[in-house]
Amino acid sequence: MSTKKVNKIAVLTSGGDAPGMNAAIRAVVRTSVHYGIEVFGVARGYNGMIEDDIFPMESKSVGNIIQRGGTILKTARSKEFLEPAGRKIAYNNLKKRGINGIVVIGGDGSFQGAQIFSHEFDIPCIGIPGTIDKDIAGSDFTIGFDTAVNTAVEAIDKIRDTADAHDRLFVVEVMGRDAGYIALHSGIATGAENILIPESKTDMDGMIASLTEKEKRKKLVNLVVVAEGDEFGGGTEVGNFLKEKLPNADIRVCILGHIQRGGSPSCLDRLIASRMGYHAVECLINGTHNVMVGIVDNKMKYTPLDKAVKAKQKISEEWLKIVKILAS
Ligand code: F6P
Repeated sequence: MSTKKVNKIAVLTSGGDAPGMNAAIRAVVRTSVHYGIEVFGVARGYNGMIEDDIFPMESKSVGNIIQRGGTILKTARSKEFLEPAGRKIAYNNLKKRGINGIVVIGGDGSFQGAQIFSHEFDIPCIGIPGTIDKDIAGSDFTIGFDTAVNTAVEAIDKIRDTADAHDRLFVVEVMGRDAGYIALHSGIATGAENILIPESKTDMDGMIASLTEKEKRKKLVNLVVVAEGDEFGGGTEVGNFLKEKLPNADIRVCILGHIQRGGSPSCLDRLIASRMGYHAVECLINGTHNVMVGIVDNKMKYTPLDKAVKAKQKISEEWLKIVKILAS
């Protein structure tokens, strides 16, 4: 492992963008400047490293961005970086500038890249969890999740109004890839009658029985929130299944989609992004290398990048029980 003093840092955002990434970039840049470390931005994730799109940043480069969604550095899922040849080119572009530390803001795929890269070229990498999916072990929070959930809640509340006006059953699909956190949180917060998530098996027969009973009582106003990665399929599959089983019900499907990735970050996302960005630079300085900076029980937690990659968070039994009881 490298014991060289880190004095030139590169920061990049990788994978799907998440609201709050800009706040994290700002924190990395300003903390670096504070400690007299040169800091460089890399455009479009690992692609910018390969294409030599690397540029110096200073305090004013990150002015007026804390409140903006997206990422000023832009982002990408780099295919070339998966190849050793691509990583070699990336390393040479860093080396010629003397860059000897990297901060990657992204999800588990991005950390996997960082992990391999740090081993191949003995360059310390720090990961900051930035994904709306909240599917990374080692942190209670990931940047962007809170904003995405609030966006979903706002949208589902509106759908509830029209569902109620027409006595309709709405199936709402939310994002999360193979994780159900956005569905679980937004479903509970909007009082959804059914929440379908990949982490727990849905009793479809039980669900149809209760909907049929509601229909008989002419009370079929119902919200079904479905995680896109649910084992039954996404909103369209669930909607089609319900239409088949309840042919007389008035059923609509709404897929929230990328609206959940955009918008101004919530206060919480700005706070965790600022805290994680600051600690990422501290880690590079004090030699806590190749870790993801997370927050657990309101304290900083440093998880080796390979552990942040492999493990997924678990949804607690307590939440699953609450969902069951409150939806009945
Ligand atoms: O990982 C973030 C995420 O928004 C997932 O929730 C979703 O499955 C995926 O990215 C969508 O990716 P894309 O923007 O490439 O369609």
